Amino acid sequence: MPEEWSAGRTARATSFSLHDFIAPALHHSITPLFVAMSSDAQIVVKDLRLAYGRKEVIHGISFDIQRNEIFGVIGPSQSGKTSLLRCLNRTIDFTPEARVSGAIQVDGEDVRRVKDVFALRRKIGMVAPLPVGLPTSIYDNVAFAPRCAGMSRKDQLDEIVEQCLRQAALWDEVKDRLDSLGTKLSGGQQQRLTIARALSHQPQILCLDEFSIAIDPVTTMRIEAVLKELRKDMTIILVTNLTQQARRLADRTMFLWNGEIVELGPSEVIFSEHPANRKTYEYVNGIFG
Ligand SMILES: Nc1ncnc2c1ncn2[C@@H]1O[C@H](COP(=O)(O)OP(=O)(O)OP(=O)(O)O)[C@@H](O)[C@H]1O
Ligand SMILES: [Mg+2]
Repeated sequence: MPEEWSAGRTARATSFSLHDFIAPALHHSITPLFVAMSSDAQIVVKDLRLAYGRKEVIHGISFDIQRNEIFGVIGPSQSGKTSLLRCLNRTIDFTPEARVSGAIQVDGEDVRRVKDVFALRRKIGMVAPLPVGLPTSIYDNVAFAPRCAGMSRKDQLDEIVEQCLRQAALWDEVKDRLDSLGTKLSGGQQQRLTIARALSHQPQILCLDEFSIAIDPVTTMRIEAVLKELRKDMTIILVTNLTQQARRLADRTMFLWNGEIVELGPSEVIFSEHPANRKTYEYVNGIFG
């Protein structure tokens, strides 16, 4: 019986408290799962399985992600891409029926044993497919996280807000109206505001889950340029249904299908005429999926 994460344990309880989310299951004795790290791997995933109730949706996958690489994840709908991201930063804990086994190490630390799950989620930023903003001003949307972290000096907050908005390619469009409501921006602008918010946590790893689903091609290309810059400072995991986006941006791409890795390799191989697996060629070229 594979060992399960706290999400499964929580699910079996008849009720759970806030504490379960804040410091889940750290008191249980857990047999450490040792995973050898390859030289510059920042994330190592070993035999990861995920089930929602009785339905297993990720079937024992293993791979690693190198520091400062853009790691593309492609695959048809329901192949487990979003679920995989949620395992990385343990937002999967919010789904009581989720059962996870295997190991994920980030910077050598097993994520299920981290003492501060909030710190883990700050370290691994997440940008959702549709913009998720606070119903506050543009400025406050970005200043929220630094303020929560204790930053109160106006000049420092101004600096970080400007920096994050610049990194998200939004500064020039909003610098004269930072006090307006974030929700009044266009869809594409709100998505960039979501990216700025994710950056305000100063993540070391940035996960983007189909960030361009609701934005126009020009804005998409601007954000893609931003991502190429950001990878100097962080590792980027790019989940995308646009296979050409992974081709343009990702150093390596993983093709996930029905919760299994069909192929993982350099993007120039995955998107070539001769990837290792015929299915990869067919998916990338729109023959199925
Ligand atoms: N909270 C949940 N409860 C039960 N089943 C879920 C839950 N979330 C996802 N699933 C199931 O897990 C499988 C993988 O879903 P997931 O959202 O991870 O796929 P995806 O590759 O991100 O798909 P898409 O490209 O449509 O976003 C699907 O069969 C989905 O129905
Ligand atoms: Mg998804």
